[in-house]
Amino acid sequence: MSTSYGISEFPGDFVNRPNWLVILLSFFYFFPTSSSSQPEQIGLACTGDPTEMMITWVTFKPTGNHTVEYNVHGEPLNLSTSGTVTKFTDGGGEHRVLFIHKAKLTGLTLNQAYDYRCGGDNHWSDVYTFNTLRSGESWSPRIAMYGDLGTDGQSLQYLEDEAKQGNFDVILHVGDFAYDMHTDNARVADKFMNQIQPIAARVPYMTCPGNHDTA
Ligand SMILES: [Fe+2]
Repeated sequence: MSTSYGISEFPGDFVNRPNWLVILLSFFYFFPTSSSSQPEQIGLACTGDPTEMMITWVTFKPTGNHTVEYNVHGEPLNLSTSGTVTKFTDGGGEHRVLFIHKAKLTGLTLNQAYDYRCGGDNHWSDVYTFNTLRSGESWSPRIAMYGDLGTDGQSLQYLEDEAKQGNFDVILHVGDFAYDMHTDNARVADKFMNQIQPIAARVPYMTCPGNHDTA
C-alpha cells in the first residue's frame, strides 16, 4: 500500500497554520535566493602591494554596477571604486552560471582599519571592516595557515571568532577547500564560500589549490 501525504494529512499543528505559509514556502522553493543580485561569497585578497586590497563577491544575476564604497573606519563610506565582472559557467551538468565581481582599492594607508561594502544599485552587502597590512622588517605578520577545511568541520567557528577579534593579518588556506567544490553542480562551493565569508570579508584569504581542487 502506498501512502501519499497531502497538505491536510501533515501531522501536528501544521494543518492549522494559514495557507499563506504554504504559499511563502513554495515561493522560496521555486525561486531560491541564489537567483539574486545580492552580493555573497565576499572575500579579500592581498595584491602584493600593502596599500591595496582586492575585494571579490558573487551574484547569481548579472549586474551593471560593481562598486566598493569605503573609507577609514568610522567615517562615512564616501569613497568608491568600480570593478569588473566575469561570467562563470560551472562545468557540471546543470551549467550553473554566476557572476564574479572584483574591485581593487588602491592608495590605502598602511596599518589602518577601513570599512567597506560591495555591490551596486539597490543590492549592497553588509558593512565589513578590514585592516591593511604593515611593511618593514620590524613587523611579523600573524598568519593562520591550514588546509582540508571542508564544510562540516569543527574549526570554522574558532577561526571566525579569532578573525573577528583581529588576531590574524592574513589567512593561508593551502588547498582542499570543500570536498569537493564542484560537488552538486558546485553548490558545495557556494556553501563553502558563504561559510568562510565572516572570515574572508575581514582578513585577506589567500589560497593555493590542493588535490581535491582540480578543475
Ligand atoms: Fe586533503
